[in-house]
Amino acid sequence: MYTSKISGLGSYVPENVVTNDDLSKIMDTNDAWIQERTGIKERRHIKKGDGNSTSVMGVKAAKIALERAGLTTDDIDLIIFATLSPDMYFPGGGVRVQHMMNMKTIPALDVRNQCSGFIYALSVADQFIKTGMYKNVLVIGSENHSGGLDMTTRGRGVSVIFGDGAGAAVVTRSEEEGRGILSTHLHSEGAHAKELSLEGPSTEHWVPEIIEENPQENIPYYPYMNGQFVFKNAVVRFSEVINEGLQANHLTARDIDMLIPHQANLRISQFVQKQFKLSDDQVYNNIQKYGNTTAASIPIALTEAWEKGKIKEGDLVVLAAFGSGFTWGSAIIRW
Ligand code: UT7
Repeated sequence: MYTSKISGLGSYVPENVVTNDDLSKIMDTNDAWIQERTGIKERRHIKKGDGNSTSVMGVKAAKIALERAGLTTDDIDLIIFATLSPDMYFPGGGVRVQHMMNMKTIPALDVRNQCSGFIYALSVADQFIKTGMYKNVLVIGSENHSGGLDMTTRGRGVSVIFGDGAGAAVVTRSEEEGRGILSTHLHSEGAHAKELSLEGPSTEHWVPEIIEENPQENIPYYPYMNGQFVFKNAVVRFSEVINEGLQANHLTARDIDMLIPHQANLRISQFVQKQFKLSDDQVYNNIQKYGNTTAASIPIALTEAWEKGKIKEGDLVVLAAFGSGFTWGSAIIRW
């Protein structure tokens, strides 16, 4: 009977810091509004010419994770790459990582589950390992949001929230029962697909059509978010899926040592923290520094929490995410 554990973690964010004041110079927004509603103080944006892209950042995070796992690229059996902002429309980022890291012709799988992307990817890695098919899986979450945001006042409800960055985890086969990834729990509700979406370019909104029909207004190739609706669903689903994970393992909230919520909005994290009666030390947040980095947010936060010594052997670590789709999920890990 195989189990799987996280054997290495890494993260990377671009050097270019964009503060709330920087944004207020290019759109009608302000530091007080952004901090009060989201907790965000600054985020990182790729700078033109700095060499970064979604897959390049993913590679940078992956190299750190591999080194910390004590493995080389030859040890990896599968790449799983989660993003909503791939370098190209197709193919996905996984094959670019395979090429840039000079890896063997191992499989590369792309996951498109937005804010839940890392949890979905982790779950797939966990299943491949538990069935005995693979020994080491490289899981990456990476986003280049800044390249696709409407940075005018029209887009302020979305653009001030998102930031760029990448995180990676090496998931490795183990035989230690009761340790590692205990379980993962995934959900979707496609009825709300349009509430947080980027509709074009796509086969529904092809480029010539966009140019003809939307010369100025209502451009469907910028992301749309029904913020309040997403917020209301997020707080309910976060709690549900954390409870589901705890119950599946006969645990309660009192057993949680560290909760790492997807960094969607500090107010959502604080709401969940209160619901589960957790102390500030039991919930890790870094949205203040990076904004919402979607599929990258959990692996970046997990890496930072681990680097700061906030996760120790034997700790119960809970990961949870909610986002576009809607999709949501949790992972229960005995470190
Ligand atoms: O990670 C994926 C999941 N995503 C989420 O979980 C996001 C969930 N939603 C949210 O975090 C919040 O809904 C937001 C932070 C996005 C927005 O906060 P809100 O309290 O729901 O604000 P709102 O959209 O209702 O807008 C309130 C007002 C509006 O003005 P009026 O109509 O009241 O005059 C907006 O136009 O704030 C205005 N506004 C802004 N003002 C300054 C919207 N964006 C901005 C801005 N700066 N950036």
